[in-house]
Formats: sequence, structure tokens, C-alpha cells
Amino acid sequence: MPRQPVRTAPEVRIHRSLTKALRLFDADRLRWLDEAAAIGPLVALRMGPVKTWVVTDPDVARSMLVTESSSWTRPPATLVPIRVGVGENLFTQSNKAWAKVQPWVAPAFRRKALEPRLADLDALIRDEVEAIPRDEEVDLERATGRIALRLAAWVLLGEELDPTRAEEIAHHQRAVVRWVGIRLGQLTGFIPVALGAPGREMKRHRAFLDAYADEVIARAYTATHTGDHVLGALLNARPSGNALTPDELRGHVLGLFLAGNETTAAALSWALVHGARAPDEWGKVRDGSRRAVPFLTETLRLSPAVWGIPRTPTRAGIKLSAGDVTTRVRRGQLATVYLRGINRDPNTWGDPLRFDPSRHDTGAKELHRALLPFGLGPRGCIGQHVAMAEMSAVLPALARRGDIIIDGSTTEDAGFALRIRGGLSGRFTTSRRSTSTDPETAKRRS
Ligand code: HEM
Repeated sequence: MPRQPVRTAPEVRIHRSLTKALRLFDADRLRWLDEAAAIGPLVALRMGPVKTWVVTDPDVARSMLVTESSSWTRPPATLVPIRVGVGENLFTQSNKAWAKVQPWVAPAFRRKALEPRLADLDALIRDEVEAIPRDEEVDLERATGRIALRLAAWVLLGEELDPTRAEEIAHHQRAVVRWVGIRLGQLTGFIPVALGAPGREMKRHRAFLDAYADEVIARAYTATHTGDHVLGALLNARPSGNALTPDELRGHVLGLFLAGNETTAAALSWALVHGARAPDEWGKVRDGSRRAVPFLTETLRLSPAVWGIPRTPTRAGIKLSAGDVTTRVRRGQLATVYLRGINRDPNTWGDPLRFDPSRHDTGAKELHRALLPFGLGPRGCIGQHVAMAEMSAVLPALARRGDIIIDGSTTEDAGFALRIRGGLSGRFTTSRRSTSTDPETAKRRS
């Protein structure tokens, strides 16, 4: 067989001047990434003299995240703003430090370990969902942020937050996430630019979150037993023979809130958007978590809360190949697995822009392989069971609250998570099929 000639990766040139290119890229990151994705599975984005890579081939993604994971690491450009924003945590730790802590905490994230806490979510969810007014404009982003935070506090920390306190914490957390997201965005724009010291405002938000984390940790220290939650596992951890220091514990608590809460809240917001656009599918979710899972999976496909996974080589000149295209990524350069691009590839997904939860019912292997909303491999999402369990418990309750009407536009905003530019507001309306009572409660009552 004649060998196929090898091509160098095609390029999208943003601008000849780096400064201008960065400005253009930051004004509309998804536009440039989509342009690269439309050209091929491995494409260079050129900004002035700098090249970065956009990967939309699921097999190349798998090799970067799993089989060749030791050749790649999260770039400083991603880690530094998160470290400055919330402190060193599971996400920002080097593979070596992470390998010491991970065995202590990973068991607490397993489905089985989470079951007792997840079984207690109903009352909390009912409390939250029934407080959402019907036929009245609601700040939906605020609602999903509060719900995600209360669920996370309960599941991860064993804390019962009242709605007002949750609102307050969510407010400070959003401010920190925004600060991180802007810097991270510029950098996942893949060029390390000056980070800028945190201003007074940011420090105030951070101080509030530090105080909350310290309060939770102090309570857990004095509790008669450490509890069956993730914080309990962190308190019991002895990664190098010693317990984690209060500073380390605080970093982990805030890191989990950042990695887990922002993403879950973003995914729930997008689920509402898709629910409004596809009321029939939304109606099916009312019947319980069986239809909620494909609905959420399709939401994570079209609107992935984590839209891209950036990596940089750990050694010189790593080769990447997709089809007949081959390229070398040098140390210091960045390659991003562009999840949103993979998820909209018409070669994998028929009619890719159509919201169709039933496409996940077939169990088709190639679709399963192409969908990586939680990443993969040793540094993939440790919280994916938490996220899916929380979201599939909340979604049917939200669907029973009513049909959704979204006010205004829903332009994607690619910051730390994929968010909606300018926030999300809308209304739950009394639908013919909606009821404030879930089927389980109805069964118990009858
Ligand atoms: C819809 C919700 C979520 C999505 C889409 C999501 C997505 C992801 C992705 C794609 C990664 C891998 C990033 C990379 O490889 O660089 C990741 C890592 C991580 N996620 Fe999630 N996540 C979600 C929820 C959660 C939750 C609820 C938690 C915590 C309870 C969590 C904690 C983490 C942590 C700690 C890491 C870093 C793991 C490591 O470095 O070993 N995530 N997540």
C-alpha cells in the first residue's frame, strides 16, 4: 500500500500582531475555536509569532488525556489564576503531590460512598424548587448557583446551608470565578499574559470564602466523628504521614467548590435553556431521573460546562497526529482539547445542533467514545458521580415546577465554565403537565 503523505497542520491566523490577535481572540474565543474545528481535527491557531493547537479528534484527545497523559500537564497559564484565586487544591496540584492525596480522597467520591448523603437530597431540593415563583421573572443563574452550592455543601462538607447564607457564599464565589475566568480565558487563549495582582475587591471576596472554609473546617475538627463526606476524607488524609494543614484543607475545600460548583451550576443553567427550547423533552424529564440522565448528557454535549481542556507538553517536542496531519508541540506551547468542537462534529453526531436526548439511548460505542464532558484519565473529573447524581436529582423537580420561558438572548461565554453572557433570567410557567409534587411523594401520600 502506498504510504499517505504527511501534512503539517493547517492554520487559522488571527492577526499578525500578537497584541491585536489576543484582543480579537478574547473578544470572541468560541468563534476562533469553531473556525479551527471546522478546518480539521488538528489545527494551529496563530497569534502573531505564537502558535497554539486546537484538537477536535476524540482519539487524539484520549491519547493526550489517558495513554500519553504523562507527556502532558495542565499549563501554568491555567493553574496560576486558580491558585491565586482559591489556593492550592486537587486541581492545581502537580501529579506527584496529587498522587499522595488522591488515594485518601478518591474513595469518598465513589458512587457507593456517596449514596447515603445523596439519599438525603430530596428535602433540600424540594425546599429550593418550591421557593422558585411561577409566572414571575426569576434570576435563573442565581437560582441554579444557589441550588448547586447547597447540594455541594451537603454532599461534600456535610453542611446544611440555609438559602440566605448560600446566596451570600454563591455571590462571593461568582466574583472569584469571574476574576479567575477572565485571566484563565486570556490564558486558555493560550498565551501567558500578565496575571495582574488581585485588586481590593477580589481580596474581599476571597477573604469571605476563606472565612467560610475555615469555619466549616473548624466545625468538622470539633465534631465527634469526621463524617462520611469528602471533608471527612480530607481530615483523615495522611498523604506524607502527616495530616493536611489548615491552609491545605482550606485550599481543597475552596478548590472543590470552584471545580464542582461553578461547573454544576453552569450545566444546570444550560439544562434550563435547552428545556425552554425543547419543551417536549423537558416534559419527559418530569417523570424522574431515567429521562434526566440523557437530557443532561445531551446538555453537556451541546453546551459543555467545561468547553476545553488545555495541556502543555512535559518534555520537548511531542508529536500529535490526526489522520494525515502531524505536528510537534514544543515545551511551553499549548494544545487544547476543544470539547465543544468534538461535541458538534457532524461526522460523529448526525444533525449536531439538534437537541436530542434520545441519541444517547442507543449505547453506540463511537458516540460514547467521543463524549468527554468530564475529561478522562488520571486527572479527569473526580466529582463526576457527584455532579451527575446531584443534577439528575434536581432536574425532574425543576421540570415539575413548570415549563420554562427564557428572557433575552443566551450567547455563550467561554470563561472558567461555559456560561451565558449577561446571566440567565426567565420564568417557570404553570404547564398542564407540571405539578409541584414528585411521583415518589405522591405515591407515599396515596
Ligand atoms: C457538570 C459538572 C462538571 C463538569 C462538566 C466537570 C468537568 C471536569 C473536567 C473536564 C475535568 C478535567 C480537567 C482536565 O483534565 O484538565 C474536571 C476535573 C476536576 N473536577 Fe470536575 N466537573 C464537574 C463537576 C465536578 C464536581 C461536582 C466536583 C467536585 C465535587 C469536581 C471536581 C473536580 C476536580 C477536583 C478536578 C481535578 C481532578 C484532578 O486533577 O485529578 N468536578 N472536571
